[in-house]
Amino acid sequence: MAEIFVAKASDMQDGERRIVRTPKGEVGIFNYKGAFHAYANTCVHSGGPACEGVLVNKVLDIIAEDRTYQGQTFADEMHFVCPWHGYEYNIETGVCAGDPKLRLKKFETVVRSGDVYLVA
Ligand code: FES
Repeated sequence: MAEIFVAKASDMQDGERRIVRTPKGEVGIFNYKGAFHAYANTCVHSGGPACEGVLVNKVLDIIAEDRTYQGQTFADEMHFVCPWHGYEYNIETGVCAGDPKLRLKKFETVVRSGDVYLVA
């Protein structure tokens, strides 16, 4: 396994990402609440650049006790959205929101001496 320099940790603010090319393909590395999460930049749907999509909190339907729909709200769970057709992925797990059996390939990251490295 090789370590590939991503960025200085101080240059990646919360919610920022970098896309790194590796011999195994592109990988997206996110800083989310001070933790670094890395996933293959290949959507499980049709291979789109999933890690380049917008960040959005998970949307929840509000259902009353009588089972009537009361609108929507946002959960405290961050997703990124594939820009091609909208598959959403949990930024902390890579699991697809629409089908939990699907997930992006995950990579390890290491922070050493203030630098972020991808292990690929
Ligand atoms: S390729 Fe990502 S949603 Fe279709």
